[in-house]
Amino acid sequence: MKRRIGVLTSGGDCPGLNAVLRGVALAAEKLNLEVVGFLDGFEGLLPPGNFVMLDRRSTSGIMPRGGTILGTTNRGHFVAKVGAGDRAEVAAEVIAAAKRVLRENRVEALIIVGGDGSMTTALQLQEAGIDCIGVPKTIDNDLEATAMTFGFDSAVASVVDALDRLHTTATSHKRVMVLEVMGRHAGWIALHGGVAGGAHVILIPEIPFSYDRIIEAVHMRDTHGSIYSLVVVAEGARPADGQVVMRSTDSGEYKLGGIGIRVANEIAERTGKETRCTVLGHLQRGGAPTTLDRILGTRFGVKAVQLMHERKFGSMVSYQNYQVHHVPIGDAVNRLRLVPPDGQMIETARAVDISFGD
Ligand code: F6P
Repeated sequence: MKRRIGVLTSGGDCPGLNAVLRGVALAAEKLNLEVVGFLDGFEGLLPPGNFVMLDRRSTSGIMPRGGTILGTTNRGHFVAKVGAGDRAEVAAEVIAAAKRVLRENRVEALIIVGGDGSMTTALQLQEAGIDCIGVPKTIDNDLEATAMTFGFDSAVASVVDALDRLHTTATSHKRVMVLEVMGRHAGWIALHGGVAGGAHVILIPEIPFSYDRIIEAVHMRDTHGSIYSLVVVAEGARPADGQVVMRSTDSGEYKLGGIGIRVANEIAERTGKETRCTVLGHLQRGGAPTTLDRILGTRFGVKAVQLMHERKFGSMVSYQNYQVHHVPIGDAVNRLRLVPPDGQMIETARAVDISFGD
């Protein structure tokens, strides 16, 4: 009988997850390991165990597909993080039930592909005696322990595509176009998407803005003869004298979003210019992964299997200096990587006349 490892995808989906799963399946085959793919995140670990076998055949052709063939959820019995930084304990009986399923199906260890919240759960499972290897995933690119996560590049590509489209209609109508993008409390998607898409104003959480400065930037474009403007607003951006805009969901969670329309209304009121707001939303999470995300996903999947083979349990795959390394999962949780306001990328953006509203 072949030895078995498990894999699951957890938290919000993103392009590149299927590249990871394919990488895991093919690398495991070389080591004569069978791969059990648990469905719908950690929930698949609950009795009787909900899984499919991942192998060369079942992962063939999945790399260009967005989402995850295993399904995912950021809710359920294994949520170990509620809001920014607050750790909740996964119930002991839930962990015991998962252990039973793993034992009965001969699964020796788990590869957990997820973001900050899922790594917090992985840490608890590891502490409870379930061997885990983490693979970081988030479009927000906000994990301190890895220089890059797959999904980010694809999300940025959709922002750039949206800005290219908004650009042509903005110039035709001489309008101000505001685009609200994702990223939670980090401005990476807005910054990279905005620079690559030729935005004129980029508002990010790390640099609180002033409406006066935004209006100045829009007027400055008028004096240069450019009577349209593109404004990218990260969902976590806020005025220096105001709060982040959030709404609570049915499950009691708080979701960021809504700052874009506020910025658009303020610009329209203060400048008299026709202004429109687009919220890009989950278009940033869907669709085919970019080349970079396919490569990164593949490398992460292969590395996770290597780490498992070397029994480096409790560690998470990490990307540093163009190489795939590993770090303790504990180092990865609750440590956000934010845009440094005095970093080179901001400096470059300012050099090409992008205003941050400060
Ligand atoms: O963390 C990824 C992310 O897409 C954030 O950018 C966004 O704030 C959030 O997830 C949206 O979550 P949901 O899919 O639950 O609405």
